[in-house]
Amino acid sequence: MNTLTIDIRKAEPSDARDIAEVHLEAWRGAYSGIIPHKTLTSMINRRGADWWANAIRRAASVLVVEIGGTIAGYATIGRNRARELRQQGEIYELYLRPEYQGIGLGSRLFAAARQRLKDHGLKGMVVWALEDNENALAFYAGAGGRDIAEGVEVFEQKALKKVAFVWE
Ligand SMILES: CC(C)(COP(=O)(O)OP(=O)(O)OC[C@H]1O[C@@H](n2cnc3c(N)ncnc32)[C@H](O)[C@@H]1OP(=O)(O)O)[C@@H](O)C(=O)NCCC(=O)NCCS
Repeated sequence: MNTLTIDIRKAEPSDARDIAEVHLEAWRGAYSGIIPHKTLTSMINRRGADWWANAIRRAASVLVVEIGGTIAGYATIGRNRARELRQQGEIYELYLRPEYQGIGLGSRLFAAARQRLKDHGLKGMVVWALEDNENALAFYAGAGGRDIAEGVEVFEQKALKKVAFVWE
């Protein structure tokens, strides 16, 4: 039997192409039928391999989860951007390739992202998810998040509610 190694690590510029692919597949899977098609396509197209290579080089905190040598997902983390919330850290994005969802990798990446924010001395953490993204809401509630605030994000004149989950 082969053993698949699961590794969670900081992204390297050479991961950019794979992360762009994960981003495309995960965003299509999660947001088709929620975010209007034109906006979703342009949001995806903006984030090609060059965009990701730049983000990684500019020291943005991008983590990847690699299983058996394949990049299955990524997370981006940093300081909380919402002034009205007192939590200091934020997971901006957490996405897995559709075929790697539901097997525990999201939980592992989430835990690693949270630990890394703590290691940077940031107390408490926020994650925003679109209210229509039921899987994400179930996932963050299951991970012990408290939904504490709501906001609105407008895409092509379509207003979508978003929910903030927090951890202390
Ligand atoms: C949301 C996401 C990160 C979760 O990661 P995952 O690896 O699929 O989840 P896990 O296998 O670690 O499951 C963790 C828990 O969430 C629940 N969960 C996961 N996917 C679910 C789904 N599709 N529907 C309902 N619950 C789900 C599981 O039941 C599990 O609970 P348990 O531990 O009590 O069994 C991942 O599915 C994903 O990338 N989805 C698409 C993109 C997305 O929506 N990202 C979040 C944007 S804010």
